[in-house]
Amino acid sequence: MLLFLACAGTWLAACASEPGASARAGEYFDGRRVLVAYFSWSGNTQRVAQEIGRITGGDLFRIEPVTPYPTDYTECTEVALAERDSDARPAIRETVADFDDYDVVFLGCPVWWHTAPMIIATFAESYDFEGKTVVPFCTYASTYRDETLQRIADLTPAASHLTGFGSTGSVSGVQSWIDLINEEWNEQNAGGSGSVGGGVAEPSVDGPAPMEGTVNLWRAGDIPAVTQGASNSDGPDFVPNMEVFTVDESVAPKGAVIICPGGAFVFRSVQAEGYDVAHMLVPMGYQCFVVNYRIVPYTMQESALDLQRAIRYVRAHAADYRIDPADIALVGFSAGGILNGEVLLNWRGLANASSLVPSYQPDELDNVPVEACAVGMIYAFYGRLSVSMNDVETLRAADLPPAFYCWGSNDGFAGQFRQNSDAVRQAGCETEVHILQGYPHGYGTGGSPSVWGNDFDAFLTRVMSGNASGIAAPALPTDDEGTTVVYDTSGRIVDDLSTAPSGVYILRSATGSRKILK
Ligand SMILES: Cc1cc2nc3c(=O)[nH]c(=O)nc-3n(C[C@H](O)[C@H](O)[C@H](O)COP(=O)(O)O)c2cc1C
Repeated sequence: MLLFLACAGTWLAACASEPGASARAGEYFDGRRVLVAYFSWSGNTQRVAQEIGRITGGDLFRIEPVTPYPTDYTECTEVALAERDSDARPAIRETVADFDDYDVVFLGCPVWWHTAPMIIATFAESYDFEGKTVVPFCTYASTYRDETLQRIADLTPAASHLTGFGSTGSVSGVQSWIDLINEEWNEQNAGGSGSVGGGVAEPSVDGPAPMEGTVNLWRAGDIPAVTQGASNSDGPDFVPNMEVFTVDESVAPKGAVIICPGGAFVFRSVQAEGYDVAHMLVPMGYQCFVVNYRIVPYTMQESALDLQRAIRYVRAHAADYRIDPADIALVGFSAGGILNGEVLLNWRGLANASSLVPSYQPDELDNVPVEACAVGMIYAFYGRLSVSMNDVETLRAADLPPAFYCWGSNDGFAGQFRQNSDAVRQAGCETEVHILQGYPHGYGTGGSPSVWGNDFDAFLTRVMSGNASGIAAPALPTDDEGTTVVYDTSGRIVDDLSTAPSGVYILRSATGSRKILK
């Protein structure tokens, strides 16, 4: 179903000042072939179509009637109205060669009499859209944008659809819109594998934590909210939750990573920016948690409450997950990274939902302080959707953890990522920056740990091995002889470190203890 974004305006608006990305066919939609088909009477829709073609490298096809429309405006409106009212199918002059070879079809037109011109119906009914992805776009003078985008979707029922775009003729915002729908496309086409099975656990501090399955972050019926009567794709019974992916029992984990997928707070790109990330990080030795936080119409603050609870749960159950509670990192993609930033800036420590929803009664889990040892900002920044927050003193006051930034040089937000990472570094926070040449927004893992995952692992390993809180702090048994004894994170003695699996170990001797990463 099409998602017509209430927030798209804000997301897109910020991009007007961004330098345009260079056109490189194949960077978007996993390199699939793109067609940009459009009808345009006075040139506005053509301009938008050309911009889409420039960015995606797609082939342009101008839909032209056999009988041209009058060049006089009033006469044209009369013909258009008559066609609409008679449900006409004006004939099209040429056909698209090799239509079957295209996977993604942008289909655009002006708004005519509150809807799409009838020639768009002729076009839509001339081809088989089964298995294709259709992306509607339109230009308009003032009204009926959403109705026209919906009409294009309705005319192509066999296709799947991505979020549409409408403008009054300006091409600013096209780059960011395409970045966004590229993520959406990745999500739709990721194969749908990798979500966890298993049961659903309640958000308790008691009892063992699940090693797979889902943890509800709130008890149903007791979800603090300021947004009333929300309706979105999660449905009315949705309970914000996180899905659990853990390392094998034989592996001593290095720590935990809480993963927030992106999607402009309109959807969650849970496959490409959730499950795929967990499947990359678990073999590296991290207990992973993919957070299904609330999306619009809920506010970012309500989403932040969900992420708080995820962090609290993992910290409360650090022993179950065999990690040091100080070794919990966050990673977020696009809006998911912005959400991480919101929690790190404004929702640390014992702050809880009652400061947003006064009637909320904190429970035991709310007594667990919210902290994270590091954050991965993958095409993301501190700030809010589409606007980075670069005030150095505010960032300094927040005492932020080390940050790993990674973005593509072709991302429409590249300038803002640079500004934000610079500001965070000036605020005294450790930053590590990776820029992927030629990559757009929304690449997820990039398909291989070598894209950025291995660097992130090295960054986390360094941060976590430097943490001082120490798994050794709980009373591990000492050795009477005063020799060094090696323990795993569960407190079991490791007889031979050389044959033990990689992970965190505690070396304890008469002079003290220290943590090592093997
Ligand atoms: C026949 C006709 C009907 C139109 N109806 C609407 C309308 O219902 N709502 C609107 O906002 N603009 C309407 N417009 C304005 C066009 O949608 C707008 O100017 C558009 O950007 C033109 O695109 P084009 O230059 O690609 O033809 C209409 C224009 C024409 C010629």
